[in-house]
Amino acid sequence: MDRIVVKGGGPLAGRIEISGAKNACLALMPATLLSEEPLTLTNAPRLSDIRTMSVLLESLGAEISTMQDGKVLAMSSHAADNHVADYDIVRKMRASNLVLGPLLARHGHAVVSLPGGCAIGARPMDLHISALEAMGAQIDLRDGYLHAEAKGGLKGADITLRFASVGATENTVMAATLAKGTTILRNAAREPEIVDLVECLRKMGAQIEGEGTATITIEGVDRLHGATHPVVADRIETGTYMLAPAIAGGEVELVGGRMDLLGAFCEKLDACGIELSETGTGLIAKRRNGRVDAVNVVTEVFPGFPTDLQAQMMAVMCTANGVSVLEERIFENRFMHAPELIRMGAHIDVQGGIATVTGVEKLRGAPVMATDLRASVSLILAALAAEGETVVNRVYHLDRGYERVEEKLGAVGARIERVSE
Ligand code: EPZ
Repeated sequence: MDRIVVKGGGPLAGRIEISGAKNACLALMPATLLSEEPLTLTNAPRLSDIRTMSVLLESLGAEISTMQDGKVLAMSSHAADNHVADYDIVRKMRASNLVLGPLLARHGHAVVSLPGGCAIGARPMDLHISALEAMGAQIDLRDGYLHAEAKGGLKGADITLRFASVGATENTVMAATLAKGTTILRNAAREPEIVDLVECLRKMGAQIEGEGTATITIEGVDRLHGATHPVVADRIETGTYMLAPAIAGGEVELVGGRMDLLGAFCEKLDACGIELSETGTGLIAKRRNGRVDAVNVVTEVFPGFPTDLQAQMMAVMCTANGVSVLEERIFENRFMHAPELIRMGAHIDVQGGIATVTGVEKLRGAPVMATDLRASVSLILAALAAEGETVVNRVYHLDRGYERVEEKLGAVGARIERVSE
């Protein structure tokens, strides 16, 4: 099992290329099931989660070929006749549940394994199920699988989501593209990954309005055609690397990074002493003074502070001037990185969904354990500023969402290497 070894020190300097967004690509790939014509994605990230989604789609009968070193995914599901998403694949990656809507829309039935437990929270699918039921689907849970049937096809409906769930919005929008009539989805999620999905679906001939707002209207059509679509830049990868100079000092240029996708996050960085400026090809992030200032954070749905950047922000607050309070409101168990940061000398007090961090002058290197994707990269950020050596174990978590992290950080002067066993 691979480990990543980091020798702390700074400052950082140089350029990092931002990849396509994992969470956009994982929603875009199932869209291939909605048409018999080819869908090609460019600027795709090379990640283990993307490979898992490919395995899932191939198990459903899609054909997928990669080009340009994996950055281009050419997909076709003209012969996709299997509608069962197997537990053995789904249990590896929750986002597999994004085939439910497209399979139901395409075949009129789908059998999709429930993903099961997750380190960061219960993550039920009740919102996905109730939205599809509102469109006329019959959904039963049997033997750990959702058995969904839409006799006569799905029908447009007026749906209000109890919570602006990203996944439920994506599944419902995809299903509604081929439904009879109009679907109005209220309290929809507004994340940039949904805007990217809708832009792609529109290229395939879908009739959709309102993406990026809380109300999305979808006029069902008889069929969708093929398209080529570039995956939007990864705002969470961008935000993560913006925080590298915040904790280790210096200045980095993020090629392809976009500040417009990171609303409230950029305001928080400005408040804690990080200077951000846009360039022709991306953005520059640098620390104004020797140490950032403590700021309070509350995670929210977009355009609020992203939960997927909470762990990384906590790492930076561990070395900030003063006391910061981080409140996690999206997932009920997303502070697993805190005990590991405490092993590195951080002062963190966790009470339920609230963590109080008292900044220290210096962290110290230690062997630590990655527990989930964003927690693992927060440990790497902390290690960049720690005295001595840190060894991060179970980096398979990291490879799910960060492309070649040791090369990207190494290119800006970090002393980081991957050790394979
Ligand atoms: C997406 O997950 C992302 N994953 C997550 O990123 C991200 O943290 C999350 O959105 C929030 O921004 C992908 O896009 C693949 P939700 P998703 O449905 O769609 C509750 C990462 O690190 N909920 O918006 O699963 C749920 O339990 C990952 O890249 C229900 O109660 O998130 C959670 O508390 C982690 N019932 C909240 O809503 C439902 O039916 C947000 O979930 C659905 C969700």
